[in-house]
Amino acid sequence: MIAAARGPGEGVNETFQRRNSAFLAPCVCAAGEGRPIIHPMQGKRILLGVTGGIAAYKSADLVRRLRERGAEVQVVMTAAAREFVGPLTFQALSGRPVRAELWDAAAEAAMGHIELARWAELVLVAPASADFLARLSGGHADDLLATLCLATQAPIAVAPAMNRIMWANAATVANVATLRQRGVQVLGPAEGEQACGEVGEGRMLEPLEIADRVDLLLPRSGPLQGRRVLITAGPTRERIDPVRFISNRSSGKMGFAVAQAAREAGAEVVLVAGPVSVPTPSGVRRVDVESADSMLAAVLREVEGADIFISTAAVADYRPANPHGQKIKKTANTLDLNMERTPDVLATVAARARRPFVVGFAAETESVEQNARAKLLKKNLDMIAANEVGDNKVFECEDNHLIVLWRNARRDLGQGSKLSLARELVRLIAESYASSLGGARDSVQAQAQA
Ligand code: CTP
Repeated sequence: MIAAARGPGEGVNETFQRRNSAFLAPCVCAAGEGRPIIHPMQGKRILLGVTGGIAAYKSADLVRRLRERGAEVQVVMTAAAREFVGPLTFQALSGRPVRAELWDAAAEAAMGHIELARWAELVLVAPASADFLARLSGGHADDLLATLCLATQAPIAVAPAMNRIMWANAATVANVATLRQRGVQVLGPAEGEQACGEVGEGRMLEPLEIADRVDLLLPRSGPLQGRRVLITAGPTRERIDPVRFISNRSSGKMGFAVAQAAREAGAEVVLVAGPVSVPTPSGVRRVDVESADSMLAAVLREVEGADIFISTAAVADYRPANPHGQKIKKTANTLDLNMERTPDVLATVAARARRPFVVGFAAETESVEQNARAKLLKKNLDMIAANEVGDNKVFECEDNHLIVLWRNARRDLGQGSKLSLARELVRLIAESYASSLGGARDSVQAQAQA
């Protein structure tokens, strides 16, 4: 427990304690017909980071909102946050001593910072100041909160709060873009009147709205809970010389949507992505690669222990056989590039002795279903999702049309947004995967009985 320093906001403590004593115990809401509803946040472990800003006082209410949904909340304050609100307020509302110092021997003895980073199922930083966003994007470990963010594998969400000009500053814009790219969820900020008297974007979202958004970020119990799903997405780039490459029009959106849907279904998701500019879905671990070779290497590193492999990447089929060490000069009238085949990532995984459940994608411009079925058989897949690609179709589009094929079945998922199709596809994959386990179990039992 940190020293009970007196500070502004300390008086809030008693008022909150009296008014909200009901929230200090986990809440089970009453439902119709006398049945209790267990809230999805019930029992979830949330580490709430509070950084320096006038909005820190709202975080006291946020603790209350999270606890009324049944979450366990551990507050970690930065030194600047303690200038705005006293730790006792948070201690009373969260029911746990506030952590603040990296070098607090007593607190470390109770739960070391690495244990604390492991304890969290979600790290939420609210308010997140401009300075904290900069430190987070720079990977700093110069105080307890920044260190925990670096050491945790839990999803991280931030609710920025700052003056509108600070929010619009190019440095903050770049930091936020980096964080989004890494899968940090940025909640808000909202627009409106600011503490400094200006009006604009930069206000922290209201605690109730943050709590609602956090609800959606937490790992759910779903059909893929406890399963590890490995996904490839995006194009690959094959080098011609130091300044040129061969690639394709894949945006990675379909693969990222599949990653989000798998995560929503409760899976632990690893996403091996070629060069794309799509934000990483919350809670997904992303590994960036460039070429077909590096995609294969990353997949082979991650595939051990994967239950399901979904190959949505548009891997280049050929690459320059002899990439030039220096920029090719414009001397001849024509240029011949000698190309060679790249490895087939999907076929390599499907050919492994101990292989996961393997799902491919087929990008076709003609005879879509026929070509996709041929790939299903040739690459020895469990399932394939076929889509028609081409001008104004799929690439760089928000919508898609998927037909899912198994060895002896098909399902037309129709036209829809990539995310809605991804959710439907993941549902089918989960069902098929579960029955493949059932089949394996049945055959082991049959052998045992024989
Ligand atoms: N794939 C792969 N590695 C490659 C090529 C393709 O992993 N080098 C995977 C894709 O991710 C997809 C499936 O194989 O899941 C089919 O990809 P597609 O581009 O439709 O077909 P290809 O196998 O490349 O064959 P073709 O280009 O002749 O249609």
